[in-house]
Amino acid sequence: MTKTLVSHVGIAVRDLESAIKSYAVLSGLQNPAIENIKSEKVKVALFSSGGGRIELLAATSEDSPIARFINNRGEGLHHICIYVDDIESKLSELKKAGIKVIDETYRLGAEGKKIAFVHPQNLNGVLIELEER
Ligand code: CO
Repeated sequence: MTKTLVSHVGIAVRDLESAIKSYAVLSGLQNPAIENIKSEKVKVALFSSGGGRIELLAATSEDSPIARFINNRGEGLHHICIYVDDIESKLSELKKAGIKVIDETYRLGAEGKKIAFVHPQNLNGVLIELEER
């Protein structure tokens, strides 16, 4: 059986409520899972329909990474999240291959999943999030 590669795409938004309305129309999904991730200073709305999902990210504080992102680059695509079987071994595999990681080890993200970020520098300008299945 083939495994889904993309867990979700993360989109940085200024106004979560207004973005939820638009993406509800777009996706036909009415009630995204809302989660306040205090450690990241971010509030998330996750639209899910089986496969790849859409994650809307809004800052809950001016020093949130999402606030900095929007101030520098505006709203838009923030990251793509890729599933991995074993996040620790993927992180060391990436480092061995000379691909710069942001997180040396995993942390706990939305839904208590093990996640880690990989630097855009060696991935053609795209911030990648890893999520253990
Ligand atoms: Co994400």
